[in-house]
Amino acid sequence: MTALPAQVSIVVPTFDEADNIHALLTRIAAAVPDGIRAEVVFADDSTDDTCAVIEKEAARFPFPVVPHHRPEPVGGLGGAVVEGFARGSAPWIVVMDADLQHPPELIFELVARGEATGAELVVATRYAAGGDRGGLAGGYRRLVSSSSTLLAKALFPRALGGLTDPMSGFFAIRRTAVDRAATEDEGLQPLGYKILLELAVRCRPRGIAEVPYAFGERHAGTSKSTPTEGLRFLRHLITLRTADPRARAVVFGLVGLSGFVPNLALLWLLTVTAPGLPYAPAEIIANQAGLLWNFALIDSFVYRNQRRHHRRSLRLLTFAGVGNADLVARIPLAALLIAGAGMSPLPATALGMAIVFTARFLVVDRWLYR
Ligand code: GDD
Ligand code: MN
Repeated sequence: MTALPAQVSIVVPTFDEADNIHALLTRIAAAVPDGIRAEVVFADDSTDDTCAVIEKEAARFPFPVVPHHRPEPVGGLGGAVVEGFARGSAPWIVVMDADLQHPPELIFELVARGEATGAELVVATRYAAGGDRGGLAGGYRRLVSSSSTLLAKALFPRALGGLTDPMSGFFAIRRTAVDRAATEDEGLQPLGYKILLELAVRCRPRGIAEVPYAFGERHAGTSKSTPTEGLRFLRHLITLRTADPRARAVVFGLVGLSGFVPNLALLWLLTVTAPGLPYAPAEIIANQAGLLWNFALIDSFVYRNQRRHHRRSLRLLTFAGVGNADLVARIPLAALLIAGAGMSPLPATALGMAIVFTARFLVVDRWLYR
């Protein structure tokens, strides 16, 4: 083993893992190399007696064991881990699960690899040569795991290109890399299980290395992953992907296009089926359905973290307001471009639509959700 830093913080997210704490700490204790100061921070959202068990066990070990219990589990696993970072101080942070599916013997190997290569991030991977996803029970979970890996890599080719296992929950990262994200506009906004995804995309670690490992069987208890976690993962991907305003504009446009579906469906209902409204009032009403659809998607996916500035009713009214203003403004604007600037109808209409779209986007992006 090459040179190790003097200190390592081990951050372990826990949700009802009382029966794993002793075994985990015992194996960590056996793995700590001579002369290294380790500290273990438990980022705990448990509803059972896990926190009490941690406090009791702490006295038995020669290194600091810090329970960080959160009464309000904001951001789930990832949120807990990020809070755990602040409770430690070592230059290297290792994140691992409590259930011993991640072998503690690898902790210091990850850090040593980082020191030897200069990498800021070292990931324990199940998918590189020498790795094994053995403990991932069942064909269904394997399929979910490999398709989420593919999706994440397709969405973030640059940030995740060097990783064979971006879904890993076992990795070492230098505190300097974590602190870099803290100074950015948005900081870290973890959501659910995939904390590595958050760090790899937002911290842009300089240098990435991997160490293969065999994903083991759970020591005690059961997995805490639920189908809701899958939905959270998709929301996490969208939030990360739309961190860039250009990407947000594209998504805004795509959501707008998708709004034609409810719009046209309602228009059909109102005009074709009895009693049959005339076109203009029917389309005005149908447009509201499209706007409602757009608002639901934009508000809950794209700007999930920017909702605090205004109440939901005001957000909906503003959104619908600019959406309807769009209809009213578009035609006079095109007419003005034709009459005033001498443009021909087609480019004038296209330019008018582009101006109105940009104005709508800016009001929503820069004002409504700041
Ligand atoms: N604080 C906190 N809050 N901890 C949580 C929460 C939560 O809401 N949910 C789960 N945990 C803790 C668990 O107690 C456990 O220590 C760890 O996070 C992982 O949870 P598991 O339920 O055991 O996850 P898994 O085995 O299905 O998947 C894990 O391993 C995979 C391979 O590395 C996760 O780490 C995956 O993200 C990872 O892909
Ligand atoms: Mn597990």
